[in-house]
Amino acid sequence: MRRKLVVGNWKMNGSIAKNKVLLEAVIVGVRDLHHGDFVVCVPYPYLAQAQALAQGTNVAWGAQNLSSNEDGALTGAVSPSMLMDYGCSHVIVGHSERRLLSHETDDTAAARFHAAINAGLTPIFCMGETLEERESDWTEYVVGRQLDSILRRFGPESVSKAVLAYEPLWAVGTDNPATPAQAQEVHTFIRKRIARCDKKIAKNVRILYGGSLNPSNAKALFDMPDIDGGLVGRCSLDASAFVGICKAT
Ligand code: PGA
Repeated sequence: MRRKLVVGNWKMNGSIAKNKVLLEAVIVGVRDLHHGDFVVCVPYPYLAQAQALAQGTNVAWGAQNLSSNEDGALTGAVSPSMLMDYGCSHVIVGHSERRLLSHETDDTAAARFHAAINAGLTPIFCMGETLEERESDWTEYVVGRQLDSILRRFGPESVSKAVLAYEPLWAVGTDNPATPAQAQEVHTFIRKRIARCDKKIAKNVRILYGGSLNPSNAKALFDMPDIDGGLVGRCSLDASAFVGICKAT
């Protein structure tokens, strides 16, 4: 049985004062939820704060990106072991905003994915197609290519140490979530593609859905057989909305 997982992606939002109120409310809100795992991915400067507040609770914390290098002359970069220093368990890799705005490619995302695993972090590896790609019937081609960038290079064992996230770009930051059937179709495609390499790993890997998740649509999505939870953007900034989604586990 795959346990459901809900991950909040705070993106570039927050302040010491706001985070305290938000995270304390999330911690209280999910304290008695035993059917899922919960993670918040916070901006780098707030990792220490997240660690101080969430340690010893059932909320884990992580980052939104990492360098594929361990150290060196890389101004502005943050290494995997730095994230480990702050107790991170997870790190988002290859989010569409990074692919679009920061020139992340399949190759650079794959290198970060590998660096995360080597450091003992669980990468949350994001994949998804644009609206144009979906309308041209390229969804499986694009998602398959993104998946293969890690699967072919590092093998199915690497996927067993990761979480995957299907985040169609047309659903991220819009008010247009995928329908449960649309998401399920792509999740099945992802799982089947992994099963071609290793059936057991395909069966056990958690595949999250992300894109305009909210407390009203989460349950129907999470009820689909291949959707194992969610990656949440905007609603992760509102404790009651985030907890509402966590309750759908
Ligand atoms: P959203 O973002 O929930 O605001 O659509 C999702 C994401 O970017 O992970």
